[in-house]
Amino acid sequence: MQKTLSPVPAKAIVASIANTPRRARPGSRKSDFEAIPLYSSGTLRIHELTDEERAVYATLKPERLPEHVAIIMDGNGRWAGQRSLKRFLGHQQGAKSVQLVTETASRIGLPWLTLYAFSLENNLRRPRAEVSFLMRLLKSYLETNLQRMMDNNVRIRYIGRTRELAPDVQDKMAWAADATSRNTGTTLTLALNYGGRSEMVDAFRGLAAEMKLKHLNPGHITEEDIHRHLYTAHMPDPDLLIRTSGEMRISNYLLWQIAYTEIFVTERYWPDFRGIHLLEAIADFQRRERRYGGLGEDGGEVEENPDHIKIAAG
Ligand code: FPP
Repeated sequence: MQKTLSPVPAKAIVASIANTPRRARPGSRKSDFEAIPLYSSGTLRIHELTDEERAVYATLKPERLPEHVAIIMDGNGRWAGQRSLKRFLGHQQGAKSVQLVTETASRIGLPWLTLYAFSLENNLRRPRAEVSFLMRLLKSYLETNLQRMMDNNVRIRYIGRTRELAPDVQDKMAWAADATSRNTGTTLTLALNYGGRSEMVDAFRGLAAEMKLKHLNPGHITEEDIHRHLYTAHMPDPDLLIRTSGEMRISNYLLWQIAYTEIFVTERYWPDFRGIHLLEAIADFQRRERRYGGLGEDGGEVEENPDHIKIAAG
């Protein structure tokens, strides 16, 4: 008799329920998402927003806030070039944006913020001096901002092939993750040495190993089986993906997870991106209708007359 693949482990389900306010997903009942508030009021610190931010926040519909925002932080080099500065100063300024945007996210109670900080391709294709600067910047960022993360109740985590990073970098990363592990506000996930395709390779390897061990039938693989082997198995898919600096590309970021994500591209370079721009992107997101391949909220109009469906020939 064929065994089916094992379901999501109970521990993972508990963690995901604890961390993830529910909302409508394809296949979920509408009443589920109406009954439970999206953001926990315990994590909201609206009074800490700037006046400008609060004005944008006031226009948002609390019941339609995203629970996961992912960002492709681009344009550090161009920001520096525009000012005749060296590229590394763009990265340095970009690190400041990381902290400020994370703090705004934590004030509005955003549960998940995932930033593309260093791709596998950056690691392979950028000059060694730039890679080494980015690694030093990451270490210094974690060290300098740890207290602010604690003050803002931010928990830091990582996705990517982080075991390929230098040991001193991994140590600092583990130190910050450990120190913030009990925080209950925004989870800031840094994608480091990350690639969407390599994540899928790692997921398929993990799934194949599990199947071999448990003598499972490949014909029974489900989307859920793949999901639970991704680096992001513990979090919901992003609702909103922001890309700065105007490029219309996905750049190998969260390829599986963004199947139904709304995309917002701004011309602004990452070092100029602030909390208010995050709120503006969320306002834009709220004007969209998410359909997940369905017909949307009004149900659409269904053509019932077969004569109207015929395609005119000749
Ligand atoms: C793109 O700029 C951005 C990166 C290569 C990585 C993002 C890094 C940071 C925001 C700085 C540090 C982050 C942390 C978490 C400490 P680019 O160099 O590709 O810009 P360009 O396309 O204008 O050249």
